[in-house]
Amino acid sequence: MLEQKILNIKTQALEDIEKAQSEKELLDLRVKYLGRKSEFNKILKSLKNLSLEEKKKIGPLANSVKKEIDEEIKKAEKIIKSKVDLEKEKIDITAPGKKIKRGHLHPLTIVQNEIENIFVSMGFEIADGPEVETEFYAFDALNIPKDHPARDAWDTFWLKAQTNADDTQTNTDKIQYKSVLLRPHTSPVQVRYMQKNQPPFRIIAPGKCFRHEATDASHEHTFYQFEALVVGDDINAGHFKYIAEEFFSKFFKKKIKVRLRPSFFPFTEPSFEFDINCTVCGGKGCSACQGTGWSEIGGAGMVNQKVFEVSGYPKNKYQGFAWGFGIERLAMIKYKIDDVRLFHGGDLRFIKQF
Ligand code: FA5
Repeated sequence: MLEQKILNIKTQALEDIEKAQSEKELLDLRVKYLGRKSEFNKILKSLKNLSLEEKKKIGPLANSVKKEIDEEIKKAEKIIKSKVDLEKEKIDITAPGKKIKRGHLHPLTIVQNEIENIFVSMGFEIADGPEVETEFYAFDALNIPKDHPARDAWDTFWLKAQTNADDTQTNTDKIQYKSVLLRPHTSPVQVRYMQKNQPPFRIIAPGKCFRHEATDASHEHTFYQFEALVVGDDINAGHFKYIAEEFFSKFFKKKIKVRLRPSFFPFTEPSFEFDINCTVCGGKGCSACQGTGWSEIGGAGMVNQKVFEVSGYPKNKYQGFAWGFGIERLAMIKYKIDDVRLFHGGDLRFIKQF
């Protein structure tokens, strides 16, 4: 009787285990068939009331059935678990692929590349100089001596650089510093290039500049400038005007006129500010040019003979013109951007439009 009961439980348990679909169902079956309150447990507890002979027969049977049910549950658990893992790993080859986002050049890099390509096509060479510059190249060599009020226009960030690293390792009292700075314009490249090269030449020097000034819609503490320098025996302001008009016409892909206005830069004599006719209204006058028909672009002039002398050229032997403008300014006109701070703000909504 008891023997049959045990065998019935076993048959029912194995059937239920086979039908189970989840780990949770198997856990419930374990509780149902092997748990403390299970029918099977009650039988095990009642074994003590049996005769010795019955105990010998039913005891081992009960134990082997208990073991068998336990093993079947474990086996089923393994199978269900491996099915779940497989499900997780399954690759749906019909699912649409994930789009990989591609980056692109920054608008200022695009504009700088365009500027370089146009000048290279006109026979210019690209020159380079350091962003951390000495006081000599940034100011003195450009005819802006210490305490000259013109230094205020190029106020920048000053750094201290050790001049004698060896001494400092043994005796800290001997540390010597020289003043270096973040260059406030690209004009120092003029002198660096001329010290190493003889005229005639035509170069451009694009690069990053820094100024210690409050930011607003047209001023940043970090921005890009572009310098051009042409030196030879008989270069004059007419050459500058011609090259500038050629360049801007190529850059804006339409005929552009350049206007010079008298100005002052210590490193050029005479000096001018130069404007181009407004690219929005073509010079008639509109809101973009405040009705003037012109847009201010940058500074220029004939290279001051003092700068030639510092660079090692004999006084009055050569003549040349130099000009510089902000690359952001040009990009702002080209793409009709009204705030220079957008370029370096890191806002992807702005950058993604290019
Ligand atoms: C200069 O820096 C002269 N080195 C230019 C020059 C070169 C004159 C060669 C003569 C011969 P200026 O400070 O005006 O000049 O700056 C030139 C241009 O740089 C400006 O017209 C403007 O477009 C850009 N710029 C200057 N400061 C900033 C700033 N804080 N943020 C953005 N652009 C600036």
